[in-house]
Amino acid sequence: MVSRLDVLFTIYIKFLLLSCLQWLMAHPKFLKNQLYLAGDSYSGKIVPMIAQEISEGLDAGIEPILNLKGYVLGNPVTDENKDINSRIQFSYLKALITHEIYESAKINCKGDYMNVDPSNGLCIADLQNVTTCTQNLYLANILEPDCSIYASPKPKLLNWHRSIFMEQDFSHFLLSPTRPPTPWCRVYNYYSSYEWANDKTVQRVLGVREGTIKDWARCNRTLSYTKDISSSLNYHRNLIKRGYRVLIYSGDLDMAIPYVGTETWIKSLNLTIDSGWQPWSVEGQVAGYWMRYIESIYSLTYATGGGHTAPEYKPKECLALISRWLALYPI
Ligand SMILES: *[C@@H]1O[C@H](CO)[C@@H](O)[C@H](O)[C@H]1NC(C)=O
Ligand SMILES: *[C@@H]1O[C@H](CO)[C@@H](O)[C@H](O)[C@H]1NC(C)=O
Ligand SMILES: *[C@@H]1O[C@H](CO)[C@@H](O)[C@H](O)[C@H]1NC(C)=O
Repeated sequence: MVSRLDVLFTIYIKFLLLSCLQWLMAHPKFLKNQLYLAGDSYSGKIVPMIAQEISEGLDAGIEPILNLKGYVLGNPVTDENKDINSRIQFSYLKALITHEIYESAKINCKGDYMNVDPSNGLCIADLQNVTTCTQNLYLANILEPDCSIYASPKPKLLNWHRSIFMEQDFSHFLLSPTRPPTPWCRVYNYYSSYEWANDKTVQRVLGVREGTIKDWARCNRTLSYTKDISSSLNYHRNLIKRGYRVLIYSGDLDMAIPYVGTETWIKSLNLTIDSGWQPWSVEGQVAGYWMRYIESIYSLTYATGGGHTAPEYKPKECLALISRWLALYPI
């Protein structure tokens, strides 16, 4: 049920762009800089839409004239159905499920694990096997501890396609004086972000206007909007003709938005391979793999390595990756 307060996602995008423009108008010395849009995860919907909005504005000669060069996305949500569907294939490729479970699910569910007919008992049984094998893993990085058992008093969902976007409420951790010391959990890093971002000195140094942020929260869920864009693939397609530079990186330990789904939609763009699949290294160690596609002056570099939001897991490597890409070097 859509409440009157709901806005369409597309309108929210225009609002976001307006905020960026206001910032640039207030700091005009940055206007001529090369502009790259970047985002991770759900931004896979937002960034291509903003890129298209800007390029249409440029065509129409709308001021200010932005020097948009391209965009960067990490483990991007592109087509939620297809992205989440690819978790089954990912589970098989990472040896989380057997070949038999994978093949059986593929046949019985006809490759669609999202819209399952409740009367299709064989498919439901296969998905139950997948759930048993994967439900206790940390979705954002299958090799790290899953800490939701500590964070949530509720029983875990038995649903294999539980969403990473429904982040658990960790606030009681923040408030409680004694944190469970073991095992190490990545989410502990997030608690300090509350103390850091709500610190008045930090806010002053960051140039946050006084009084505008009363109680910073990592995820502000007060904005309600209706999802009116189920896939951003058409935005990527439209942007090919613009000749932008695009970098898509995918933490290949991420089961939330798996690299296999990302690879599938990139392939569907029918671009020409310019550099084949090869490793990229930092300090002599392989950090991941990459390849590049081109289409006239458009280029799309695809790179792997890390978990969901790769820079969080591999900061040094991701910094090297983006520095090389921005400097037009091979990855
Ligand atoms: C799924 O799990 C059930 C119960 O453990 C088992 O009998 C069945 O063989 C499994 N299916 C596959 C394809 O492994
Ligand atoms: C969340 O966003 C709303 C609307 O922008 C704002 O009024 C509110 O203060 C924010 N809450 C937090 C906890 O940041
Ligand atoms: C890519 O190529 C396939 C097969 O030739 C075709 O079916 C598909 O429509 C093409 N996709 C795009 C985006 O051009």
